[in-house]
Amino acid sequence: MNKRILTVLIIMGILMAGVATYSYAADAQKLYVHYCAQCHGPKGDGKGPNAASLTVAPKNHTDAKEMAKLSDKDMVTAITEGGGSVGKSTAMPVWGKTLTAEEIKDLVAHLRKLCNCTGPS
Ligand code: HEC
Repeated sequence: MNKRILTVLIIMGILMAGVATYSYAADAQKLYVHYCAQCHGPKGDGKGPNAASLTVAPKNHTDAKEMAKLSDKDMVTAITEGGGSVGKSTAMPVWGKTLTAEEIKDLVAHLRKLCNCTGPS
């Protein structure tokens, strides 16, 4: 293959990968602010405007020590089926009818960024 064409293709590939990563991060952040922030806070620190009226404090998603105890699978279940499904407070709503499985996966990746932690292996 012509070297110049190859170079152009490689550059396009890099640009497209960058766009894909960017749009995922932006979308997950948007979803979080739209659906989760009223309780968990826009920064994920558990201090959303609704937090004070709840009997159980919303999880602080920036607390690496606490968040490291949860596996990605546990988080997907908690988000999809609500807090009650993982033995936690039902104040954590069911999102499986509002969000797609893909969106929930992106949100879990976003939570891992907020805590800058990984789950138990
Ligand atoms: C109406 C308030 C409210 C909203 C909105 C909300 N949460 Fe929660 N969430 C809670 C509360 C309260 C808890 C703590 C439950 C407990 O510890 O018993 C919680 C806990 C969690 C947990 C930890 C579950 C566990 O196993 O400890 C995750 C993960 C979570 N929320 C993600 C989300 C995501 C993602 C969204 C947005 C799609 C969201 N939450 C929206 C109230 C809320």
